[in-house]
Amino acid sequence: MSVFPTFGQRPAAPSALPPPAPAQASEDAPPPRAEQGQTHAASMAEVRMLCLQRMDPMAVASTPPDRLALEVERLIADIATEKRIQLNGREQRSLAGDLVHDMLGLGPLETLLQDDLIADIMVNGPHRIFIERRGKVELSPIRFRDTAHLSNICQRIAAAVGRRVDESSPMVDARLKDGSRVNIVFPPLALDGPYVSIRKFTKKPIDFAKLVEFGAMTPQVARVLEIAGRCRLNIIISGGTGSGKTTLLNALSRMIDPGERIVTVEDAAELQLQQPHVVRLETRPASLEGRGEITQRDLMRNALRMRPDRVIIGEVRASEAFDMLQAMNTGHDGSMSTVHSNTTRDALTRIENMVQMGSMGLPSRAIRTQIAGAVHMIIQAERQRDGGRRVTQVSEVCGMEGDVIIMNDIFQLEMNGVGPDGRLRGTYKVSRARPGFQSRLQYFGLERAWAAAMEEA
Ligand SMILES: Nc1ncnc2c1ncn2[C@@H]1O[C@H](COP(=O)(O)OP(=O)(O)OP(=O)(O)O)[C@@H](O)[C@H]1O
Ligand SMILES: [Mg+2]
Repeated sequence: MSVFPTFGQRPAAPSALPPPAPAQASEDAPPPRAEQGQTHAASMAEVRMLCLQRMDPMAVASTPPDRLALEVERLIADIATEKRIQLNGREQRSLAGDLVHDMLGLGPLETLLQDDLIADIMVNGPHRIFIERRGKVELSPIRFRDTAHLSNICQRIAAAVGRRVDESSPMVDARLKDGSRVNIVFPPLALDGPYVSIRKFTKKPIDFAKLVEFGAMTPQVARVLEIAGRCRLNIIISGGTGSGKTTLLNALSRMIDPGERIVTVEDAAELQLQQPHVVRLETRPASLEGRGEITQRDLMRNALRMRPDRVIIGEVRASEAFDMLQAMNTGHDGSMSTVHSNTTRDALTRIENMVQMGSMGLPSRAIRTQIAGAVHMIIQAERQRDGGRRVTQVSEVCGMEGDVIIMNDIFQLEMNGVGPDGRLRGTYKVSRARPGFQSRLQYFGLERAWAAAMEEA
């Protein structure tokens, strides 16, 4: 049986379609060459269009490529016969090949996806595609044929994660085969045609050495962060959208001992842990009927029953913050996460608000005490106006004084001008205070290393 419900069936007469092209094999005298080429091209385009119309994106996504090519070829033959368009075997195969390639790939987006310098792809309707290259956003010359072409690609992206995107469910989060994160918004919410935002998956994970090379931090800051990761501090990475939080989290995760069991909880899996013992969990959105949603909080609670040594949450956004603090406070030290906020102090307030929303009735002071006991360090990432992504602040959470959480800025980046290359310049202000986690440094034998790194900074 065919995987396409409409295969082999005669479609209802599509009123919007052009009338069938005159059959080329008519007894009339053959038209001049150029015209013949044109009508033939028009016929091919018609077959192509009908073929696309009759295929079910869900079925396409679940059919193996080689079988799909055969099915498409059969469909093309059916359409050609029905429309009395003459296509020879080679043409049928080549059209089927093109279609399958277009169907399984992402059409015009393919070239952008293959360009490793591009970090983000932002599609604002079929004719405006912006890309981010080296931290700068620019308009790309690449376009879709029309809205239908773009919608088609969107359906394919959604179908790959078992979703459909249409007026009734106009927002979809998905992931491409290569791991890139995608968000799609359809009309009527998207006023100028479908919008697609792609955060490309970095094939080669960026480690601390690379971050130093990119100018995101000095070698001394990198060294200090490495030590923080090794001595199992509970760390929060704070920053705005696209500031490099996930990248930093990935770099930090490389400091984890390969013997540890790590459970990761994410909304869209982006973490690239290199350790052998990693258990990855991903949330599930509600179905169209509004059922079956699994939130980060659900996963977080489950994660704690999986005997983790550390738990890593891709990004805390809501009530799972409470469970994260619990994990950090109950022997899963070395747990890490990211949060959307503008300063390290702001990150604490955000976490406090998240906990408050999830567990009504807990007094502020109790929440703060729990935060102060759980979180050791907060790292602030920022995308700055020259396009550079930098670590701008590293703060230690020292404890409580009255109702206030006390913090100490271990590093604070102070900008002092623009270099000849147009890049911003800055230096780190360093705090020489003894960290509150001194005993931990001693326990892991990293006290000297820390002192040396701070000495050089
Ligand atoms: N220091 C850096 N130098 C150059 N590029 C970087 C740097 N840090 C991150 N990037 C790139 O910037 C992009 C955004 O990074 P990342 O995904 O880590 O940001 P984010 O803060 O987690 O974003 P979001 O808020 O969307 O989750 C990625 O393509 C990443 O490869
Ligand atoms: Mg991120």
